[in-house]
Amino acid sequence: MPLPADIQMDLHPKVTPFFDAQSNTIAYVVQEPDGPACVAIDAVMNFDAAAGRLTSECADAMIAHIEGANLQLEWIIETHVHADHLSGAPYLQERLGGKIGIGAQITTVQETFGKVFNEGTEFQRDGSQFDALFTDGDTYHVGAMPCTALHTPGHTPACMVHIMGDAVFAGDTLFMPDGGSARADFPGGDAGQLYDSIQRVLALPDEMRLFVCHDYGPGGRAIAWETTIAEQRAANIHVGAGASREAFVAMREARDAQLAMPKLILPALQVNMRAGDVPEDDAGNMVLKIPVNRI
Ligand SMILES: [Fe+2]
Repeated sequence: MPLPADIQMDLHPKVTPFFDAQSNTIAYVVQEPDGPACVAIDAVMNFDAAAGRLTSECADAMIAHIEGANLQLEWIIETHVHADHLSGAPYLQERLGGKIGIGAQITTVQETFGKVFNEGTEFQRDGSQFDALFTDGDTYHVGAMPCTALHTPGHTPACMVHIMGDAVFAGDTLFMPDGGSARADFPGGDAGQLYDSIQRVLALPDEMRLFVCHDYGPGGRAIAWETTIAEQRAANIHVGAGASREAFVAMREARDAQLAMPKLILPALQVNMRAGDVPEDDAGNMVLKIPVNRI
């Protein structure tokens, strides 16, 4: 598939990371180069599953940054339906405005997990909980900065990678070079598709800055989030140095079979497939289900 025609390597947006230690997620605020417009990517709410307690430390840090720098939040992007943390998108939107966007294949994810959680007909499976649904190659603007969404399925059907000037936000495709790649064993995941999606990311310009969505500090190194396309192509332990599709799929499937489910997968999916809104019972109380032996 072709590269987006509108890559502008001379645009250098300011990228501010926000690390959530509970889920090892890195959320970002990205500011257009010459103006106050910004976008929040993969905002996190903190959730104590044992207590059923939802708090907002991570999202509050993003809000403090945006307000402190007098920025205007135009977009709130979810790179995909996360399985390891609850989205802070509606919390940010309520306080700062902005449109919540995700990949159009969210409808596939909603169909799959609507069944798993035995949701009723009131749960819409058409993506209408979100303000914008992106398809491959769609562009949008943050102030004057053009942004492009690439459809990169494999980890999940709705995964998108977002390009903003000389920065690319990899979502759950690539991790840091010593971390490799995201798992591909969730419902709707596919290791071969993930390899193909990663090849599209690796075809971006060498010097493009690449920001990952997760880092686990392999080997005890400090948490990191920024690398480049050239570094990934040369040194990524799963796909670097020209690793073949066949070898990648064999490695990924063997490795995924050993991985435990993320601790927050059941709460996270129920909330994130609703654009971050927590479902409510008839009396308006926020409640989550734990379906038994379903995933
Ligand atoms: Fe993920």
